[in-house]
Amino acid sequence: MTIVINMRELDERKMRIAARFIREGKLVAFPTETVYGLGADALNEAAVRRIFEAKGRPPDNPLIVHIADFEQLYGLAEEIPEEAKILAEKFWPGPLTFVLPKREVVPSVTTGGLDTVAVRMPADEIALSLIRISGRAIAAPSANISGKPSPTSAGHVVDDFYGRIECIIDGGETEIGVESTVIDLTSSPPVLLRPGGLPLEEIEKVVGRVEIHPAVRGHATDTAKAPGMKYRHYAPNARVVVVEGRRERVRRKIAELIEEYRRKGFRVGVMATGGFYDADAYVNLGKSEEEIAKNLFKALRELDKENVDIIFAEGIEEKGLGLAVMNRLKKAAGYRTIMLK
Ligand code: TXA
Ligand code: MG
Repeated sequence: MTIVINMRELDERKMRIAARFIREGKLVAFPTETVYGLGADALNEAAVRRIFEAKGRPPDNPLIVHIADFEQLYGLAEEIPEEAKILAEKFWPGPLTFVLPKREVVPSVTTGGLDTVAVRMPADEIALSLIRISGRAIAAPSANISGKPSPTSAGHVVDDFYGRIECIIDGGETEIGVESTVIDLTSSPPVLLRPGGLPLEEIEKVVGRVEIHPAVRGHATDTAKAPGMKYRHYAPNARVVVVEGRRERVRRKIAELIEEYRRKGFRVGVMATGGFYDADAYVNLGKSEEEIAKNLFKALRELDKENVDIIFAEGIEEKGLGLAVMNRLKKAAGYRTIMLK
């Protein structure tokens, strides 16, 4: 049975119910500022194993551990470099995850067998309160079935997990819409493993140059350091094709492709940042990087419901949040892109 707790406003009494589930080793989906997480006590091996089962997640893909106070980090990470302190000071709570050497107490199920642990402090009152009241660090991957787009509302979590987890906290739509930025602090300079809700440029202003792992922009590889990056992800049922280049050319090309594919009898969807398209289903993601990031996963889920066969997506510039947006889009597309000069 799944209890859905409506919490558009923080409610301590209701929160104690959810916190008790965490302490009992059960699964609680909760909102964060990025996407919804599927949470369990990070140090409870059996509970964490249930997260992997519920999601159908490969066991070598480690989870992010969520904390509510910087002090909690000392209980999870063996070494805390100066950069972690400086970055936490500036960006926590927020959409930034550190990879650090793990302490023995962190079970290897949680870290996918690695000797490092990923940790972040989310900037969401409900998430922080769940961590504090339960008195636990909470391991939480995005609350979607493995391979589906990450959930940005409780409805998405209900679609994927109703009847399969103990509790879903409905805190409304998430603010940022893409997952946290993951940065490896075990090497120097630090390495960006996954672009996300905190732009790389902001991090570099604080700690100087950050290396970008090749998997961030390019093809998924077996050597991807954030193991999650190697799996085809965020994939809707329809085939996705990203069209990149100068805006006007992209729009003309997509218009041509729509005609061509509809003539062949396909149902065609489009995800764009404006313009007019004569497609079977059309989602306007918005103009700013922030709007586009916020609407991206919802759009992929909506287009799936429209039963389109193919989706053409306008590419955007890979700067600011655009780096995360394009990383997710290219993955959804299985790296099918049309690059226009
Ligand atoms: O915003 C977010 O980060 C959301 C919310 C719920 O906090 N969580 C999330 O978790 O996106 P998940 O599991 O969907 O993605 C975690 C990513 C994966 O790519 C995983 O491989 C990587 O972080 N990761 C986790 N632990 C790692 C480690 N020790 N070393 C390298 N990569 C790690
Ligand atoms: Mg995920």
